Amino acid sequence: MIPDEVVDQVSQAADIVAIIGEHVRLKKVGSVYRGPCPFHQGTNNNFSVQPKGGYTCFVCGEKGSVFTFVQKRLGLSFVEAVKYVGEKSGIEVREVERRREGPDPREPLWELNATAAGWFREMLWESDHGAPAREYLAKRSVSRETADRFGLGFAPRELGLMRAYLYGLGYTEQRLLDIGLLVKREEQEEPRPRFRDRLIFPILDAYAHTVGFGGRLIGPGEPKYLNSAESEVFSKGKLLYNLSNARNAIRRDERVILVEGYFDVVRLVDAGLESVVAPMGTALAEGQADLLAKYSKTAFLLYDSDAPGQKASFRAADVLLARGMTVRVVTLPEGEDPDTFVAKHGRDAMEKLLTASMDVFDRKVQLLERGGWFADLQRKRRALDSLLPTIRATTDEITRDLYVNRVSEAAGIDREVLLRELSAAPSHRGHVRRPSPDAAAPRKAAAMREEEMPGDSGLQRDGPYRSDVPGSSSELALVRVMLLHPALAEGVVESVGRLEEQEGAHPGVEALAEPDRGVMRDPVYRALYEAVVLHGAEAPPETLAESLDSPAIEVMETIRAEPGSVMDGPRTVDDALRRLKERSLRERLDELERMTPLAGGEEKDALLREKDVLRRELNAIGGRGWKSVRK
Ligand code: GTP
Ligand code: MN
Repeated sequence: MIPDEVVDQVSQAADIVAIIGEHVRLKKVGSVYRGPCPFHQGTNNNFSVQPKGGYTCFVCGEKGSVFTFVQKRLGLSFVEAVKYVGEKSGIEVREVERRREGPDPREPLWELNATAAGWFREMLWESDHGAPAREYLAKRSVSRETADRFGLGFAPRELGLMRAYLYGLGYTEQRLLDIGLLVKREEQEEPRPRFRDRLIFPILDAYAHTVGFGGRLIGPGEPKYLNSAESEVFSKGKLLYNLSNARNAIRRDERVILVEGYFDVVRLVDAGLESVVAPMGTALAEGQADLLAKYSKTAFLLYDSDAPGQKASFRAADVLLARGMTVRVVTLPEGEDPDTFVAKHGRDAMEKLLTASMDVFDRKVQLLERGGWFADLQRKRRALDSLLPTIRATTDEITRDLYVNRVSEAAGIDREVLLRELSAAPSHRGHVRRPSPDAAAPRKAAAMREEEMPGDSGLQRDGPYRSDVPGSSSELALVRVMLLHPALAEGVVESVGRLEEQEGAHPGVEALAEPDRGVMRDPVYRALYEAVVLHGAEAPPETLAESLDSPAIEVMETIRAEPGSVMDGPRTVDDALRRLKERSLRERLDELERMTPLAGGEEKDALLREKDVLRRELNAIGGRGWKSVRK
């Protein structure tokens, strides 16, 4: 920080007319200076500078001090701006530490990472090992200049090379293990490099300390990308790729473009769009959103055009809206990501897309409208359920109000009804949206697998798998019967199929409204169920395991370890099916209840009739009163 006295001193000494005069053609008019406004690119002299004050534009309203001027025009931080003005005004500006506590304890770790980054770079450009990576970059049309801008490197497949180099500089094995450059599976084993045969993207924090790496496989394999393990210096949720390079441009352009991948960043920067950052392959974290909000009020989400990309962008939007930001979504043509789009069509085409971007909420409403989601009561209810969380997340009052009006118009629902819905706690439908690994997000699944690298701390689950899906104990009961009493499996599958049919199909709008939940809902139990359907109940465990991930395999093993746990197979199946049926009836009743406030006169009658039927069904299968607490 710079002491206040120094800031005052600089401000007094600064010749604001001379400093702004370097950027704007100013003419003296009376006691002030006038010129064309650089902020809205004006042509008339509406921009006024007061020699002993600040500047104002009478057209666009921009105003501020000499510091805000250089901050905005040159994209500098406040500290940088004071230094810049100080230099022009003959005042020496020195930053002082907020607290005097000596050097940052992370310094040696940053240094080690920077040293490793240098070695990776050398491997890429100077070594024979780097040949395939150089070819790879050439194939993706990344020039040497661009690569160097991002400090790209290459981690060869060889086990001992990096180690030897870093040991030679005096770094110990423990050091390299701690920072995650080396990994040890078992105690005795020789440590191996975490990154092998990967193109290396050094990851810097906002102040350009080298805090970690992202690595992309050059050849085929899994996972495609691997990041440094979480450590004292690397916390993925608080870092954005390219932020240290982009932050001045972000402030200057008053916008930040958010993309999904490393290569998207590289390509856009290469094309001249500088204010681009990316999260590290996971959903936008709170900490990352905080960072963005610090530098800009407007975010452009430039995600892949596929369904997971769309979904991820809407999720990110909610996090940013919660910080009062304006969020716009850019729609790329089918099948493109920012990297391929810019490579094919260039920067101008990309700028056009940015200009054509829509406010995220308008985009959602547009998608819902196009999908016919405001056509009937049932769909309206679901559309609303996908929109309300976004309105709730929005902290900016004016924006919120606009959003309420927008839905009210599009769905033909009274503002008053919407406002009541908004103020009601969303808790009773907490089961509708739960973060579960869904089939549409393979990247996220891959990212999760990555976290299980040995040496990563704090990310392993402890204890056996526990589902948080309401009523899933009945799902587990069915899976248990299928595994322990193969003869009953076929009957179970038939019954589950019938139940799913009775529930009726209510497909979800891609990436927006949630699709129907079906009967087997817990992702792990569902996977086991599907494995049995796929391979048959008589299939040996090894065969089933082929299509399963680790928690499902554990659950399967637990079940097989207790062969006596199902006493009466047919009865267990009956009970479970009855409870699952009950769950679905209750949920439907719940939903009908929530449709009521949106319903018109005739619709209300229909709702009452359906509720009546469902209640009778519920009584018939022995359910308690439907209002009682579920589970
Ligand atoms: P390229 O295929 O190299 O162009 O990558 P991409 O950026 O187009 O890939 P994709 O859209 O699949 O992924 C976007 C971002 O998600 C990547 O830049 C990574 O940050 C991350 N990502 C992709 N795959 C994985 C993975 O297997 N593990 C992890 N941790 N992150 C991944
Ligand atoms: Mn790509």
